[in-house]
Amino acid sequence: MTNERTPALVEALRAYYEGEVASFHMPGHKQRGGTHPATVEVFGPQILRADVCEMGGFDYLHSPTGALVEAQERAAYGFGAAKTYFLVNGSTGGNLSAISALTREGDHVLMLRGSHRSVYTAIALSGAAAHYIPLAHDEREHGEFLATPPNVKDLPSKLAVIHITRPNYYGMACDLGPYVDIARHTGAMLIVDEAHGSHFGFNADLPESALQQGADIVIQSTHKTLGALTQASMLHLGPRALAYDARIQRSLAMLQSSSPSVLLSLSLDLAAEHMQPYGAGRDQLGQAVRYANGIRAAVENLRGLRVVQPAGACDPTKVVIDVTGAGYSGFSAAAWLQTNARIYVELADFRRIVCCITMGDTTDTIEILLAALRSLSKCEGSTTISNDMRLPAIPSAALTQRAATQSQTEMVPIANATNHTCAEYVIPYPPGIPLVVPGEILTAETLQALRAFRLAGSKVVGPHDQSGETILVIRD
Ligand SMILES: Cc1ncc(COP(=O)(O)O)c(C=O)c1O
Repeated sequence: MTNERTPALVEALRAYYEGEVASFHMPGHKQRGGTHPATVEVFGPQILRADVCEMGGFDYLHSPTGALVEAQERAAYGFGAAKTYFLVNGSTGGNLSAISALTREGDHVLMLRGSHRSVYTAIALSGAAAHYIPLAHDEREHGEFLATPPNVKDLPSKLAVIHITRPNYYGMACDLGPYVDIARHTGAMLIVDEAHGSHFGFNADLPESALQQGADIVIQSTHKTLGALTQASMLHLGPRALAYDARIQRSLAMLQSSSPSVLLSLSLDLAAEHMQPYGAGRDQLGQAVRYANGIRAAVENLRGLRVVQPAGACDPTKVVIDVTGAGYSGFSAAAWLQTNARIYVELADFRRIVCCITMGDTTDTIEILLAALRSLSKCEGSTTISNDMRLPAIPSAALTQRAATQSQTEMVPIANATNHTCAEYVIPYPPGIPLVVPGEILTAETLQALRAFRLAGSKVVGPHDQSGETILVIRD
């Protein structure tokens, strides 16, 4: 029994059901049917009924006046923001909108080299120049996870935005303090991509949220770690960002669908209400942390498996396991779990697997995972583990990303590509950090690293020619 109150959009939907007699507007299913017979089987009977839009009098996300104002205000209260926007195009839309709103051609953006591709897209759209903070190689854990904040004196003047991704894919959450200081010192706005940290700050065992640490704009994929539907995300403003509110609102309207799904907004309202002080979400989150701690304790006793517990703030709901001691790479362990236990992990890399534990887990799901990990550890693997895969130096840029994406291009054999200006993204997953982005000069070191990552099993995202024989460059 909880004290959860009825979310504003649920009340509005109930009122809507009382109102319109018949719809002669979109959507085509008219809340009723005319769709494939399997619709009800896959979605349940209520989905069409709830898929309403502003033409029937429901509030409209791009110019809300009623229930959506209340829902977003309540979410802002719950997450500790000065203002909150619901996003219907994921954190992708949030990154695009925030960066587009705050930067223009000639501006400078300081960002982590390991940023999500939507951040790179936003930079390419805006015409800003990117300055990268490289990720340091962790000698103990063998990988690139965290960065050292730069010195203010090394930064360009006219810095418009500092964009930091926190946490990373392994749940490691850097301290934002140094970046808050740089932002205050330079006048830049601090945008934090907290796509994987919507649940931060709601439990004493979790890292503080980016808003709690003083970020100006925070983008969260509510669908990733709380209960919203896939694609449903939020953009929060801290007090300093209110000065840019009109620009952000304009960007959101330009870069997201003009038919924002009420289902996504409803799911955000429900997810936010669930996390309010009077909701049941905070207790459930505590349970998820206990489950994850239990898995870590059990894994410590399994042969060949080692829990990765880095120094510094870390999301306890991400269980990160190094599997190399059992003769597996992260990829082969993930494949073993899929084949033998039908378990799919969140992420696998050369050495590790990452399992997300959320409020959706139960004692049954945790037991299933534990049983599978026990079997994995008993069944010795025979994978040759790659040596440390190191990222080469970040190449220098001849053009901004926007200039590069607007230039004439040609394909050249990789063997002849050194010193050409690259015209495409080349991002090996793992580690999900670009080797080169459009506008940067291809070096022999970069091309050699590309070959090595491919050989080690990374999936290379970005290149048009997936065979790896040619690469897109700017035509001379
Ligand atoms: C760090 C990071 N930022 C942004 C995004 C984009 O999020 P969304 O899927 O909500 O568009 C992702 C998606 O995986 C991500 O990992």
